[in-house]
Amino acid sequence: MRRFYQESWQGIPFTQFSHLSFFHLAGSKFYSTFYEAMFSRYSSWEALPEEWRTIKKACADWLIARIAAKMSLKEDGAAYRVLSIGSGCGYMEKLLLDAMPGIALYVNEPSTVGLKWLRSYIPNDRVFIGYPPACLPADISYDMIYLSAVDYSIRSCDFGFMLESLRAQLEPRGELVCLSSSFLQEDSVIGSFVNAIKILIRMVLHYLGVRPQQFWGWRRTRKEYQQLFSQAGFLSIEDGWMTACPEMYWIVGT
Ligand SMILES: C[S@@+](CC[C@H](N)C(=O)[O-])C[C@H]1O[C@@H](n2cnc3c(N)ncnc32)[C@H](O)[C@@H]1O
Repeated sequence: MRRFYQESWQGIPFTQFSHLSFFHLAGSKFYSTFYEAMFSRYSSWEALPEEWRTIKKACADWLIARIAAKMSLKEDGAAYRVLSIGSGCGYMEKLLLDAMPGIALYVNEPSTVGLKWLRSYIPNDRVFIGYPPACLPADISYDMIYLSAVDYSIRSCDFGFMLESLRAQLEPRGELVCLSSSFLQEDSVIGSFVNAIKILIRMVLHYLGVRPQQFWGWRRTRKEYQQLFSQAGFLSIEDGWMTACPEMYWIVGT
């Protein structure tokens, strides 16, 4: 596992709207202020950087194919219930709904403003603002729960607890999908040492005011993801990389 830092996102330097912290993770207030800056710069999902949209489209297509395959196995005829954790500005969720209007899509996001564009697509009672699992109604179970590019921002003990709690909200054959955009190929002793030196240099540049950095979260290895899923009680675990987007690692627990 390795810490990583971020200076900008979607072409917006963080220094434009916030104080940056080298040691504290960005919280819901930081993400809310970021999304406000993003909404004042971009007028719609289509205006967001093309490279980012291409990756998110590949992730949405991957989910659509998976849901389509699982939906056909569902026997009770009820709508396939999907919960997205940490939906952000909701671009993938919009793509899911465009392709599969019949699914019952529920969304979660801790920041209060992130879902501004998605609000008109989803009924209010399917929108859960806050940190999961606390903000999720306990009486709804899902065929699929997914996190796309969210786990990086959660410390391992909290992520393990979240996985365990979300597992309890799955339907009997339901699955939890984690799409990681912060995959770490390997974590050798030498690699960690070099990384520690890089972090030290970053810290000096941060405190000198030359390159302010925001502590963004952790990169995890395949072994670490598998361990977290296994400790959360998933009996069957599959994983791999997306063909259309080889840097995207996915892991599914059932
Ligand atoms: C990089 S964005 C990803 C947004 C979207 N899922 C995507 O793939 O484009 C990360 C999002 O996770 C949210 N987030 C951060 N910590 C979270 C947590 N503990 N639980 C749920 N969401 C969280 C942030 O507010 C942010 O909107």
